[in-house]
Amino acid sequence: MIDIEKEKLLDTLRQIIYKLTGNYYPDERLKMLEYKVSGIIKEMITAGKKAEDIIDHIIKNEEIQKKLINLITVPETRFFREMEQLETIKKYIFPKLTEPIFIASAGCSTGEEAYTIAMMLKDSKLIGKVVGMDINEVALSKAKEGKYSDKAISQIPIPYREFVEVGEDYIKIKDEIKKMVEFTKANLINRADFERFKEHFQIVMCRNVLIYFDKKSKKTALENIRISLRKEGYLVLSSTEMLTSEFKEGFEAIRFDKFMFYRKKS
Ligand SMILES: C[S@@+](CC[C@H](N)C(=O)[O-])C[C@H]1O[C@@H](n2cnc3c(N)ncnc32)[C@H](O)[C@@H]1O
Repeated sequence: MIDIEKEKLLDTLRQIIYKLTGNYYPDERLKMLEYKVSGIIKEMITAGKKAEDIIDHIIKNEEIQKKLINLITVPETRFFREMEQLETIKKYIFPKLTEPIFIASAGCSTGEEAYTIAMMLKDSKLIGKVVGMDINEVALSKAKEGKYSDKAISQIPIPYREFVEVGEDYIKIKDEIKKMVEFTKANLINRADFERFKEHFQIVMCRNVLIYFDKKSKKTALENIRISLRKEGYLVLSSTEMLTSEFKEGFEAIRFDKFMFYRKKS
């Protein structure tokens, strides 16, 4: 990273990132931010940008902003993540829904969660569609491709492996599942991106995403998710995430087995 005003640069960057994505890098994660953006900053310096111009350049340049978003978001995901919670959804929530069932994976990353849900619907012989949404365009294009390393097969329980084609060093989502899933760019803090799906979804999965938000952006995201949910639709967070009362507005907590879900109040 550049020597001069490093702290100021990082602080301004985190503000820009927050404004663009709602993701907030607290002080203890600033080193991580520095590591993630060091390449892009060096690139700008090599291209002749002076340190003091960098911020201005980022603010005015949408392409750089996209690059920044792709760098700073956390794409970690896998198929059938939190299997026990998914089984609970299948057992208690799916039977309550009317077909065709519409489910969102908000913060879908490279698509594993969206395809997992589609496989679960198919396996349950239910007609439905899944919309995968993310702000990271690189992750979205990988999601659309539906092709993963062969190692990913171990994440998929045996009964569901019929939904993937196994190649030499890759696995591919079969068309019968792929056509149930659509991917689209959407920003959780942008209301218009969710107005587009007003009262559309019966379930919105938003797992391991809001943990990177601060209070204010988390509230905005929850409000937007609420807009896209039907009355009595379910918000699913990771089982390690809880909505305390200050975030629960418009939702009621409902427990199935040991898992907590959040149902939109009518
Ligand atoms: C850790 S991944 C979670 C993936 C998946 N939901 C799971 O639990 O396996 C977080 C994802 O949230 C996305 N994300 C972060 N901020 C976002 C925002 N403002 N709008 C939409 N997606 C966002 C990131 O790009 C990333 O792909």
